[in-house]
Amino acid sequence: MSAQDRIFIKNFTLLIAGLMVFTVVIILAGIQLNKLSSRPDNPDKVAALEARIAPVGQVYAGDTGRDALAAAQAAAATAPAAAFDGSLDAEMIYNSVCSACHTSGVAGSPKMVKADWETRIAQGMEVMVQHAIEGYTGSAGVMPARGGKMDLTDEQVEVTVQWMVDNLQ
Ligand code: HEC
Repeated sequence: MSAQDRIFIKNFTLLIAGLMVFTVVIILAGIQLNKLSSRPDNPDKVAALEARIAPVGQVYAGDTGRDALAAAQAAAATAPAAAFDGSLDAEMIYNSVCSACHTSGVAGSPKMVKADWETRIAQGMEVMVQHAIEGYTGSAGVMPARGGKMDLTDEQVEVTVQWMVDNLQ
């Protein structure tokens, strides 16, 4: 081996060694930088997490909460307020609500016979309807307001009282 070859091999070995050291240095620097940078979480993982905690994690708070609350309130406001969807079918209302007492005459309630209603009818329709809407306690017993079905409208109670008076035996 000539002297020149020996010099070449020495320099070339140094160059390779230097490049290997440089490779290790940039690998370590890369690992270090990777630790420092904060990357956003995987959106799929975030969505899956939110879905998983949704039933207990949902609260009316912040901006989305305000929207959800407004939506819930709007839904409640548009929900049918009147019983039986506001139906004025007096016979149906009587059978659903009032007949429990007035058919059998339970607890002193006037039955659907004329004899039980003569003095009541004498008071006038207005008083009877008012008693049926507001409820009242007479000498016979307790008539609960709206027959105990508080979502009946005034009009529904009125047509039902009229139907009762018209259908006495
Ligand atoms: C829990 C039993 C009960 C139910 C249900 C009930 N009532 Fe009565 N109602 C009574 C009783 C008891 C009286 C008599 C009270 C008294 O005069 O002492 C009465 C009396 C009345 C009177 C006579 C009022 C007056 O001025 O004399 C009307 C009208 C009447 N009810 C309508 C209704 C209508 C309409 C319904 C259904 C929406 C209804 N009631 C449901 C128990 C009931």
